[in-house]
Amino acid sequence: MSIQNKVALVTGAASGIGRAAAFLLAREGADVLIADSDAAGAQNVCDAIVAQGGRAGWAVCDLGEADQIRSLVGRALAQYERIDVLVHAAGICRAAPLLDLSDEQWRETLRINLDGTFFLTRDVGRAMAARGSGTMILLTSDRGVYGSIDYAHYAASKGGMIALTRSLALALGKHGVTVNGLNPGMTDTPLARGANPLSWDAKVAADVLGKASLPEEIAQTILFLAGTGGAYTTGQILGTRIRHGQ
Ligand SMILES: NC(=O)c1ccc[n+]([C@@H]2O[C@H](COP(=O)([O-])OP(=O)(O)OC[C@H]3O[C@@H](n4cnc5c(N)ncnc54)[C@H](O)[C@@H]3O)[C@@H](O)[C@H]2O)c1
Repeated sequence: MSIQNKVALVTGAASGIGRAAAFLLAREGADVLIADSDAAGAQNVCDAIVAQGGRAGWAVCDLGEADQIRSLVGRALAQYERIDVLVHAAGICRAAPLLDLSDEQWRETLRINLDGTFFLTRDVGRAMAARGSGTMILLTSDRGVYGSIDYAHYAASKGGMIALTRSLALALGKHGVTVNGLNPGMTDTPLARGANPLSWDAKVAADVLGKASLPEEIAQTILFLAGTGGAYTTGQILGTRIRHGQ
């Protein structure tokens, strides 16, 4: 199943995994709408895709805010008439030991990573269900499965996203819509490098493959789920690494 001429909304596409996914989907012939809170970053990615001959637009949006998400989805539908693929890669990951976590740190991470995911997938899900087709790929995390001492708020948000992924798959399957989560494992992005309290090199050495993934490699799995895989796979949480404890 090709993604040629599909409409893809890619969040968090100013950086990292979302950025790599936006480039790859555009290269494969999709119309890509980039959404991020970083306006300059989103515009740069959009300009670079267009300069390479791809089709892209961009929108600034705080993906933790329901009203901004509603406007984003409304704009996408007004401009493209449909959303075939949603790649939701916007998210934050900020270290704080569990017992030192403030109310504000907890709420901010849950607001962006979990509340925003619900608002976005509900609004996009309504449009996809009404049309009878679509696929969603949500960037989740191994920490949402295994927990974390220094990222309990992040782990809780990602665990919530995993449960939401499965609920969306159950609710939307009969409407022709598939929904999958992707735990990318340690991937070389500003988020991963900035969030690690241990040195990056020590984390890489501890990895079972002894290396971090590249965003471009994770984008290949996103492409698979956006196309062929998304036709018959739903409610799955794909990972990239076997785990041997935190
Ligand atoms: N990199 C990793 O090792 C790793 C591991 C597990 C999960 N993930 C998940 O993958 C996704 C992408 O992460 P990444 O590593 O590419 O990070 P990144 O920091 O490179 O990119 C995240 C993007 O999200 C945007 N963003 C943050 N808050 C936002 C908001 N409120 N509204 C709109 N945009 C917002 C940022 O501006 C940025 O462009 C995240 O959900 C992250 O939790 C990453």
